[in-house]
Amino acid sequence: MCGIIGYIGNNNAVPIILEGLRKLEYRGYDSAGIAVLNKGKISLSKRKGKIADLENSIKKKKFLGNPGLGHTRWATHGDPSDINAHPHADCSGKIAVVHNGIIENYASLRQLLEEEGHLFKSSTDTEVFPHLIEKFYKGDLLKAVQEALALIEGAYAFAVICEDEPDKIIAARLGSPLVVGIGKNGNFFVASDTVAIVKYTRRVIYLDDGEIAVITPKGYHITDIHNGKKKKEVENITWSLEKITKDGFSHYMFKEICQQDQTVYDAMRGRILKKQSKIKLGGLESPLKWFDKKPKPPTGLDCLLNAKKIIIVACGTSWHAGLIGKYMFENILGIPAQVEYASEARYKNFIVDENSVVIGISQSGETADTISALREAKKKKAVTLGLVNCVGSTIARETHAGIYLHAGPEIGVASTKAFTSQVCILALITLLMGQEKHLINKEKSKRIINSILKIPIQIGKILKESNSILKIARKYAHLNNFLYLGRGYNFPVALEGALKLKEISYIHAEGYPAAEMKHGPIALIDKNMPVVFIATDTENQIYKKIVSNIEEVKSRHGQVIAISSEGNNSIKKIVDSAITVPKTLDFLTPLLTVIPLQLFAYHIAVLRGCDVDKPRNLAKSVTVE
Ligand code: AGP
Repeated sequence: MCGIIGYIGNNNAVPIILEGLRKLEYRGYDSAGIAVLNKGKISLSKRKGKIADLENSIKKKKFLGNPGLGHTRWATHGDPSDINAHPHADCSGKIAVVHNGIIENYASLRQLLEEEGHLFKSSTDTEVFPHLIEKFYKGDLLKAVQEALALIEGAYAFAVICEDEPDKIIAARLGSPLVVGIGKNGNFFVASDTVAIVKYTRRVIYLDDGEIAVITPKGYHITDIHNGKKKKEVENITWSLEKITKDGFSHYMFKEICQQDQTVYDAMRGRILKKQSKIKLGGLESPLKWFDKKPKPPTGLDCLLNAKKIIIVACGTSWHAGLIGKYMFENILGIPAQVEYASEARYKNFIVDENSVVIGISQSGETADTISALREAKKKKAVTLGLVNCVGSTIARETHAGIYLHAGPEIGVASTKAFTSQVCILALITLLMGQEKHLINKEKSKRIINSILKIPIQIGKILKESNSILKIARKYAHLNNFLYLGRGYNFPVALEGALKLKEISYIHAEGYPAAEMKHGPIALIDKNMPVVFIATDTENQIYKKIVSNIEEVKSRHGQVIAISSEGNNSIKKIVDSAITVPKTLDFLTPLLTVIPLQLFAYHIAVLRGCDVDKPRNLAKSVTVE
């Protein structure tokens, strides 16, 4: 997944492009490049490495011009190198292109173009696109781009500039996000994410699949490969740039972990009517106009309440949140729910129909696997709901209804605050459905709501333990294998804790249901393989079982780190390190037990000198399948 940005207007494009690339670096950062048009000539500069390396390389040159394109890369085809970095040009160097996505039929297109004499420099899929435009260009750049796009199979967000039409940027979207920024006094932008341009304008147009934007300093119009006229609404970005600074924290990830007392509150704000002990989820209240059911179309909530099947599709951390949702629907509502890895659901016989509700959970709203699974569900007439953080993202716009996380921009590649917001909203959905189905009476609703409202303060209390968690992290940071074990609602938390450690510290860590350890993994236990147990004692019979699992590990000289309940002093006597969390209802414990695991992973990664916000090989939003 990569980040692209383009600018056209009456300023030097270079500083605007570089500033935008720095904001997009979370999308990929193995190489970066820039192309500007100056006095009728396109100049290109591209480098392996981070934006800073690119910046240093152009400081020495007199690099200015307008329009301009920029790109920060997460390699999909062709290793990270100067030559494989974008922008890519045609043979003449008159056409420059940046791309986010994958051209799946690039090999056959490259062969066709090479047979026609085109010379390629890189090993990327992207480079076929400027050569295709060159092949079709006969004085009309839009037409040439349309003809080139007609041959492309795969996913793309492209931006194109051309020496022969210097007052133009053409941008096209299919499967990868692309937004057009409408600035003042003839300044226009195009970018993968609003974060790159919000400094210059809050007025944006979100392109949909198949749309092409033709942008000049005099204005813009939106069309498609058949030259159709597209009417698009100009929308306003509501959040501020300040939200994406580190505010004095050493890393975005640490800032975002420490925001969770606020962001979990924001997830529930305006959605709990305390006096009436009611839940209000506006995103599920409006009739779904996609259905022509008479007398009036159902709402998202109606579909959930009448669903014969609820399936959650997601990836990574969002999948772990989905698994907690499944446990909530089944344990509290008695409604069967499936959780599918989106990439698996997409390619297996995905058995859904008009009586199914498919919930897509995604922080970015741009994860290709999750988008594909939701599109597959829509094709089979299922109702699709999105639990998404990024406003205006593809999943938010393509699902029939949904609920925003309200967590604010999450810049750290490792997802933290989005996870707790997802779990909080799943709890609200469960409570709302329980009330509507008369499974949860007013008394029980009140008790649950009081517990939910306490969570932000309880999270704040845990966050204050960061330094004591750092001390525990110091004891284990040198080790290279960990097991994370939990039961019930804390089994998905064990998976999430292991993923956090893996992805930012590069330590091998596996999550398991605690009882599963006896069926194989226990063979791994020795003094160099610490076991993290989530051992809160809200559920008595589970707690006793967890304690015996801890004893099994201890008897094999394993080291045990326990996440346990406040006031439980007995467990501290049998484990090597204990981190306590306040007590809450069983199905709400993940909102608390995940916090120490996020901090534990963060501190270990910092102690090991890892790039916490931009871990190797990863990207914040995986917009390729
Ligand atoms: C989580 O820390 C990872 N960055 C990754 O697993 C992520 O959760 C996954 O790629 C899904 O992303 P999404 O929530 O934006 O769809």
